[in-house]
Amino acid sequence: MGTRLAAQVPMSDFARHVIVWQRQHGRHDLPWQNTRDPYRIWVSEIMLQQTQVATVIPYYRRFMMRFPDIASLAAAPEDAVLAQWSGLGYYSRARNLHAAVQRIIERHQGIFPQAIDAIVALPGIGPSTAAAIAAFAFGARGTILDGNVKRVLARCFGMEGFPGDKAVEARLWALAQSLLPHADIECYTQALMDMGATLCTRTKPRCAACPVSEMCIARREGRIAQLPGRKPRKALPERTTVMLILRHGDEILLEKRAPKGIWGGLWSFPEVARDTILDDYLRARCGSHARRVMRLAPFTHAFTHFRLTIDALLVDIAKPMASGLGAMWLDLEAARGAALPSPVRRLLDAVA
Ligand code: ADE
Repeated sequence: MGTRLAAQVPMSDFARHVIVWQRQHGRHDLPWQNTRDPYRIWVSEIMLQQTQVATVIPYYRRFMMRFPDIASLAAAPEDAVLAQWSGLGYYSRARNLHAAVQRIIERHQGIFPQAIDAIVALPGIGPSTAAAIAAFAFGARGTILDGNVKRVLARCFGMEGFPGDKAVEARLWALAQSLLPHADIECYTQALMDMGATLCTRTKPRCAACPVSEMCIARREGRIAQLPGRKPRKALPERTTVMLILRHGDEILLEKRAPKGIWGGLWSFPEVARDTILDDYLRARCGSHARRVMRLAPFTHAFTHFRLTIDALLVDIAKPMASGLGAMWLDLEAARGAALPSPVRRLLDAVA
C-alpha cells in the first residue's frame, strides 16, 4: 500500500533533495542506527533531547550494556537508572523512561507499542519524539519537529516569527507535514536531524554543502541570521531614580552601595526621592547648602530585568562636613579609579 502510494504522489522537491543528501552525506553508523528495536531507538531519542550526539554516545553504550531491553530496565530500581544517567543532565528524562517501561509492562505486555497515540501517551514522549521512534522502528510516516528541524524549515521556507509562539509552531507543523515523503521516511527523518545538527547550524551554517540551498529563502534573501525569529523581548518594567552629583571645588561625593541588590558594593552618587527638598537634604547629609543646581539630561540604563531612567542633578555646594562612613569625597581623577557602575561613570564623564 505504502509503495503504491509512493508511486502516485509526487515527492516534494525538498524531500527529494534531502533524501539524496542523506544517502551520501548523512550519518549512518551511530550506535542507535541499523536497528529496528524500538527500545534502543527510544532510549537514543530521549538521550538526544537537548544533548549532542558526541555527548550521548558513551552514555548510550553504557546504558545499553546495563539495560539491554525493556525487561531489564523495568526490573531495575530508579536509583540505578539515575546512576547510569548521572552527568547527562535533565534527569526527568531518566525518571520518565523508567516510569514508561513500567507502563509498557503493565499495559502493553512488555512490548513497545506501535500506534503513535500509544507512544505519545508514554511519559516523556512528545509528538516529535514519538514520530521519530515510529519512523525509525516501524517505518511509520510521522512528522518530526524539534528545535533543529524548526530552524531548517524556518530558513528554507522563509517562515517568520518565533517558533516558540503557538501560531508559528502550528504553521511549522503544517509545513513539516506537507513535506513528508510517502516513502523512505526513515532516511528523510534522519536527514532532517542531520542537516539541522551538521549543516543548518544556528551560526555559520554550511550552505555550500546543503542540498536545499538553491531553494532556501533565507539564503536567497540574506536573512539566515534573522531566521528563525527570536523570542520577542518583553517590555521591561520601568524605574526611575534621582542622583545627586554633589560637588565642592573639584571634589564629588560617592557612596558605597549596600552589598546586595543592583550594583552591590560599588560606588555611586547619593540617590534621593523625587520630592526631596534639596536644601533640607544637604543640611542633614553634609551640613551644607546648594550654591548652584544644574539638571543633566535624563538617560536610561537597561538591566536584565528592568530599565532605569536616571535624572541627575549637578549640585555645587558650600563647604561640606566630612563624608561619614560608607562615603567619600574624591577629586574627579580619583573617582574615575573607583569601582563605578557604568551609568555613574557616564555621569562623571558628563560633569568632568
Ligand atoms: N537527534 C535527535 N535524534 C537523533 C538521531 N536519531 N540521530 C542523530 N541526532 C538526533
